[in-house]
Amino acid sequence: MSAPPPMSVPPKAPPRLKVAVLISGRGSNMEALIAACAEPEFPAEIVTVVSNRPDAKGLDKARDAGLTTKVIDHKDFQSRESFEDALHSHLEDSGAKLICLAGFMRLLTSRFVERWRDRMINIHPSLLPSFKGLHTHERVLEAGTRFHGCTVHFVRPEMDDGPIIAQACLPVMPNDTPDSLGARVLVQEHRIYPLALRLVAEGKVIVRGGRALIDSPPPDTALVNPPFSD
Ligand code: GRF
Repeated sequence: MSAPPPMSVPPKAPPRLKVAVLISGRGSNMEALIAACAEPEFPAEIVTVVSNRPDAKGLDKARDAGLTTKVIDHKDFQSRESFEDALHSHLEDSGAKLICLAGFMRLLTSRFVERWRDRMINIHPSLLPSFKGLHTHERVLEAGTRFHGCTVHFVRPEMDDGPIIAQACLPVMPNDTPDSLGARVLVQEHRIYPLALRLVAEGKVIVRGGRALIDSPPPDTALVNPPFSD
């Protein structure tokens, strides 16, 4: 009698990094992350979308994508700390190992930030460390800088501070308005946030000495605005 054929075991997909996305508004960066995570080979999955605002437009988009959503309204809490404790325990229960802030408009205390040190990333619409804070597109136009862009970084207690994972840079055009510039920056935000999440989820980002070091960074190129004319 011949031996039965060996059972074929399908190759096991590597575990995907469990991610919580925190929003307060329209959630277009969240949508970019949802789209990335929908790719079968993407190394991360969204386990919860949390909003501190019950009316955040992004909540419907997350629900439409079949994701678990949670509203933790900061107005329901007496203090920043008690709000953050509720947030922290929801995140722990969800199994999230990384937080992606995506237009989350609440300042977080250093206690919370340290709990999630090197496990929380943010997207900001400027080339950090320039133009921290709000209204970046207006301020860039006022300053007359020739380039603008966006940054994904690890979160530190100081606002819009922390090791930089990815940036996109684009030229400021002479006839730009805050809206036109902001719209072009947003397109780049939607490109670099999934890229940065991929790098982190693949374990290719190491934080050392306040800098995020990336395994195999892309080759060196230069962008000059206005361009040289020969
Ligand atoms: C984005 O410009 C992001 O960089 C900033 O807040 C905005 C959020 O937009 N932190 P959205 O909610 O992702 O559409």
